[in-house]
Amino acid sequence: MKVTVFGIGYVGLVQAAVMAEVGHDVVCIDVDQNKVDRLKEGHIPIYEPGLTPLVTSNYEAGRVDFTTDAKMGIEHGEVIFIAVGTPPDEDGSADLKYVLAVAETIATHMESHKIVINKSTVPVGTADKVSAKLAETLAKFNKSVTYDVVSNPEFLKEGAAVNDCMRPDRIVLGTDSETAEKKLRELYSPFNRNHDKIIVMDIRSAELTKYAANCMLATKISFMNEMSNLAEVFGADIENVRRGIGSDPRIGYQFIYPGCGYGGSCFPKDVQALARSASDAGYTAQILESVELVNYKQKEKLFSYISSHFSGDLAGKTVALWGLSFKPNTDDMRESSSRVLMEALWKAGAKVKAFDPEAMEETQRIYGSRDDLSLMGTKEAALEGADFLVICTEWQAFRAPDFELIKEKLTLPLLFDGRNLFEPKLMMEYGLQYYAIGRGL
Ligand code: UGA
Repeated sequence: MKVTVFGIGYVGLVQAAVMAEVGHDVVCIDVDQNKVDRLKEGHIPIYEPGLTPLVTSNYEAGRVDFTTDAKMGIEHGEVIFIAVGTPPDEDGSADLKYVLAVAETIATHMESHKIVINKSTVPVGTADKVSAKLAETLAKFNKSVTYDVVSNPEFLKEGAAVNDCMRPDRIVLGTDSETAEKKLRELYSPFNRNHDKIIVMDIRSAELTKYAANCMLATKISFMNEMSNLAEVFGADIENVRRGIGSDPRIGYQFIYPGCGYGGSCFPKDVQALARSASDAGYTAQILESVELVNYKQKEKLFSYISSHFSGDLAGKTVALWGLSFKPNTDDMRESSSRVLMEALWKAGAKVKAFDPEAMEETQRIYGSRDDLSLMGTKEAALEGADFLVICTEWQAFRAPDFELIKEKLTLPLLFDGRNLFEPKLMMEYGLQYYAIGRGL
């Protein structure tokens, strides 16, 4: 099937690559000529396991192409995905200007029936706005071409995006058109093999499903972070509590890991956007607002442990920091807890020596060169001359470090762990003073 994807970001690129892999004929459009040129040379703009070989092999086989030529792309695809960004507005609501600009471009160039699919995470009601924009633009050009607008939210996780897209748990289709449903069933049939994963519903429910899924997961995390604070208040160990509740299959073990807060491009933005659109509609989403507030405070947790350990006197201290990305297996630093920590440490006069397996370039890009930040080539090098160690991200490479070496390199035997990676007893045996989240330490 001939498919066009607008927006070569995380969602668009992964979606395009897996569709090409199963044999669809895909054209990707982006406004960024440099990105397009680099992709054609095999430079993938994001770090995502398995994505580079998938994109390059499909590009070389002629199943996926990259261009800035929107007209050509629109002529090409019978199905057109909109996968452009929806950055938060100043008040936290999703900004639809890119989505609507693509709708306008599609209507400007379309000469035959198109199925326009919204993949971007967009507020409930956006499909109606896309429809209206298509209708308005078609009318402007006096064209009587027909179209269907479908909401087909994406549920991929960064770091596991290729696998999530190849083997989706569910494929949500929000549509009121039988023609569109039939076409999309065909498009997705290679991903819908063992059992039927397609869930068809009305458009607004599909739009809300995307937010509800992310907000539910964010709620689980903030709930656990609140419990970890209570564990501290009451002298309990949240890790025991986590195992105790996770064993109930109705609760489950997933997404109940306490830590130094959730980050990334989705949870913070989506919780905020749903809360704002609820409030715009006159409804106060109290749970969502609390989820956001708890997370905001949780991101300050590590700094508050550190600051109270040193009675607020951090001037001149050097901090070894392991983990900069918002989670392992990505170089994404958006809303990462490490940023809140670093910025607080700098404000307090401390220096940071940081290491991350993938996010060094991104950190450099965000913060540039500064005297109080050294980006080190290995986790061991980050320890050299540092006073104490902080861990912000649970990369596999940090899970079994040489504790003797840590103690030897640091000037103080002191470790702050934002992801509860180690057993407090073991840390004591190594003679390390250990702070973790909600472990009553
Ligand atoms: C999230 C959702 O998990 C995907 O299903 C969704 O499709 C995606 O957003 C999206 O909307 O595009 P992602 O942002 O890639 O995916 O990252 P997650 O793996 O969900 O992690 C988010 C944050 O939660 C990370 O900072 C992680 O450290 C934190 N987290 C996760 C916890 O603090 N505790 C947990 O138990 C789990």
